[in-house]
Amino acid sequence: MDKKKALVVGGYGTVGSIISEILAKDERIMPVIAGRNESRAKELAHKLQVEWRTIDICDAKSISSALPNIGVIINCFSGPFTHAPLLLPELSAKSGIHYMDVSGSYEYTERFLKLNELALKNNMTLITALGTNPGIPGIALMSAKDDFEMLESGRIVFVFGTRLDGISASSLKELKHMFDVKPLIWKKPRWIKPNASSRKEYVGKPFEREVYLGVSVTRDLLTIPELVDVDELSFWSGSQSTGQGLVMIAGLKLGLTRSDRGAQLFLNMLKQMGKTKQSIPGALIKVEVTGMKQGIRQKRTMEMYCDENYATALAPAIACQQIVEKKITRRGAFVPPEIVPATDFMDRLGKFAIHSSVATEEC
Ligand SMILES: NC(=O)c1ccc[n+]([C@@H]2O[C@H](COP(=O)([O-])OP(=O)(O)OC[C@H]3O[C@@H](n4cnc5c(N)ncnc54)[C@H](OP(=O)(O)O)[C@@H]3O)[C@@H](O)[C@H]2O)c1
Repeated sequence: MDKKKALVVGGYGTVGSIISEILAKDERIMPVIAGRNESRAKELAHKLQVEWRTIDICDAKSISSALPNIGVIINCFSGPFTHAPLLLPELSAKSGIHYMDVSGSYEYTERFLKLNELALKNNMTLITALGTNPGIPGIALMSAKDDFEMLESGRIVFVFGTRLDGISASSLKELKHMFDVKPLIWKKPRWIKPNASSRKEYVGKPFEREVYLGVSVTRDLLTIPELVDVDELSFWSGSQSTGQGLVMIAGLKLGLTRSDRGAQLFLNMLKQMGKTKQSIPGALIKVEVTGMKQGIRQKRTMEMYCDENYATALAPAIACQQIVEKKITRRGAFVPPEIVPATDFMDRLGKFAIHSSVATEEC
């Protein structure tokens, strides 16, 4: 059987190399390692015994020469995706190739979704924002929709551990743009500005103390009330250490991540600051939903404690497998809650090295 070739752009980077390693173990798929640096692409391709290509996502000629015989593109270039060109998804659709990326950018998603007509015209599937956050929380929420007869509320909590192991300089640069997005919560029938936009809360293990959380919103979540009839929906994020979180926000606002070197130095400083006896390496995603199941009102809490880069890599790797298995067949430009088969995705996610749990109680 011919393997489906998945071009992993940024394939030797932090997230991309994990995706490449996961896909190299799938006998139906061959990752093709791509980036601007030929020797780095070759080196990993040689190790995994797969193919490699060079590509610059800002250059149409370079993209076109990398696309022959590719079936799926997974874009995890270093970003920020905010204000990045849409050339790659556009040329992907025009060349008859499915596309997905790990963007965390609200601004990029707004532009990306306008590629819907182009994707439909070319009978292709384009998916953006498939990562740890955004990505997995929205899919987890949709998996509850598959199981409940009626959903009443959804609340997502995302907390970084102070070691910031899963944050690279690239991710930190994108975070600056994420913090610029105005917070919103869904109170049926509309998205509104929240009255109280922050609170201290005990979020459970492994964070054994109260964490300061702020409300924000990611672009994928805006689609959820269009897909599910839900009364309330909110997204809260924070850091294990309030001090570290505040320094991060201040540094991002001051523009310390403007250059690559500045972003790396600032990240090193934040990591140094986070080194304490209690410091925790990964990130916690907690999704709480309430709703009716078999006539009984229930609250379900799904928790995932993970390395952010690893979980980010799993999201497109799983969606790529779903495309190959024809579990994703709709065409157009989407965010994950609209297109990713959620229960199947969560089942597969649980098979990887992620600490996950689901608890249901009557309420
Ligand atoms: N949604 C989420 O939850 C989430 C979580 C973590 C990370 N991310 C995102 O994931 C992306 C990758 O992060 P990372 O930590 O893996 O970054 P990284 O380690 O810096 O790797 C980035 C890769 O992209 C390649 N690249 C950079 N510019 C390129 C271009 N113009 N054309 C083609 N390739 C290019 C780099 O190689 P060359 O420089 O040699 O070309 C490198 O291989 C970032 O955009 C980050 O924001 C998202």
